[in-house]
Amino acid sequence: MTDPLIIGAMVRTLGAYPSGWRHPGAHRDPAADADILRHIAQEGEDAGLDYLFFGDWLATGPDLEFRDPYLLARIDPVSAVLFLAGVTSRIGLIATVNTTYADPYTTARSLASLDVLTRGRAGVNLVTGAEPRAAGNHGRDAHADNESRYGRAEEFVEALRRLWDSWAEDAWVADAERGVLIDPEGLRSADLRGEHLRVSGPLNVARPPQGRIPIVHAGTSPRSRALAATAADLALIAAPTIAEAIATRRTLRDIAAEAGRSPDALKVIAPVLPVVADTDAAAHRIVERLLALVPLAEGHHSARTAFPQNRTVDALADALEVPADDELRTAAFDQPVTRAEEARLGERGAALIERVARIAGLRMAEGGTAGAGSAGAALTWRHLVAAHAVPAAFVVGDAGTIADHFERWRDHEAADGFNVLSAFQPSQFEAFTRTAAPELRRRGLLRDEGDAGGKPSATTLRDRLRVSSYVDA
Ligand SMILES: Cc1cc2nc3c(=O)[nH]c(=O)nc-3n(C[C@H](O)[C@H](O)[C@H](O)COP(=O)(O)O)c2cc1C
Repeated sequence: MTDPLIIGAMVRTLGAYPSGWRHPGAHRDPAADADILRHIAQEGEDAGLDYLFFGDWLATGPDLEFRDPYLLARIDPVSAVLFLAGVTSRIGLIATVNTTYADPYTTARSLASLDVLTRGRAGVNLVTGAEPRAAGNHGRDAHADNESRYGRAEEFVEALRRLWDSWAEDAWVADAERGVLIDPEGLRSADLRGEHLRVSGPLNVARPPQGRIPIVHAGTSPRSRALAATAADLALIAAPTIAEAIATRRTLRDIAAEAGRSPDALKVIAPVLPVVADTDAAAHRIVERLLALVPLAEGHHSARTAFPQNRTVDALADALEVPADDELRTAAFDQPVTRAEEARLGERGAALIERVARIAGLRMAEGGTAGAGSAGAALTWRHLVAAHAVPAAFVVGDAGTIADHFERWRDHEAADGFNVLSAFQPSQFEAFTRTAAPELRRRGLLRDEGDAGGKPSATTLRDRLRVSSYVDA
């Protein structure tokens, strides 16, 4: 039998699509995150998802308003998972930690605490960070270069392993009669003296139920791939197409095998942004609305210094290499794109139009059929500029359409699982958990939570991920 996919939620309370917070009914107040986090956790757990995942970004600034509004203000990830530990009982909880700035002892300690408190549901996503402003927030002059960030990250992983191994499995004796609480032999130091890090240990938290807490890694550089392949249980990849995912997964598995690991010990997870509704047409209308809500260079927005430069028809024409004197550069946002204009946008323009028509159910002016939604509204420059400026891994449709996508990626060995993003909260996450998740389970793509006797089929995050504790080669 084929294994189910690993399916987790990448939680962004303000929504994962930058205009999602503007959708009617969407959560848009980070000061009220407690309620929405509890709600998301309940939904994810009831749907039988494998984990809730929290990314991190160590700075904020006005430029993020239009690019990544969910990064502007949010609960720090370790606080979020500790908060949710008390209101969940089965789902895995993964927090991101930036190894460039974090302290390994503090990280080992808070994650071991989470693992003990949740009886083995903790995971940690280690990133080295890509935000230069993080340096100033941590008393440094500049963000470290790739070499030294990954040098430190490798030592960080070693430090976590040694600290989590502080207590041998039988070191806590607790023999009240003899008055023996611990076996001192079973309490081991970390004694790491590296180029970047020093930590003595042992750790003052009980041995985590999972032993070594599952490690996730996300990055793109060669050093990042090497770290993911040799040290992580889960690798998060950015894969815009199935072909790229297949190639990246194969590369990571090859590096793992060269390092002496079983490639099956490394699970590769791709991001996906399902836009789910009861019918394909209703899901298309949500995407149309999201695109229409992307702020473009008009009205009060363009007066902001931080407003992105790529949100004009002219910038789109530049990106598609249309001659500078072409009159289509002056098209108004709400003007439909004509067939004649499409022809002037070249092959890449035609591909963009085809995709936007397909995901948003739009039709071309002049009676063309630029996609599935030939009965829908007209495709305008607004849709095109928005889709080009704010790309997303949209998969759009009813439960069956979403499940078809997941199934195709599994069958082509493109990914071992998905990080599910929701365009806005909570209704798009609910649409996924309440309509898509049952269909995924029916097709064997989402883990069945209990066996015939109602016994849980997995209790720890490691069980859910089907990765045994990593043993050095
Ligand atoms: C799917 C994915 C998720 C990521 N999530 C985060 C994150 O939450 N926080 C962060 O600082 N960086 C995150 N990154 C960025 C990476 O940590 C990395 O710094 C960036 O991709 C640059 O690659 P490099 O570190 O290999 O040079 C993510 C990257 C990917 C591919």
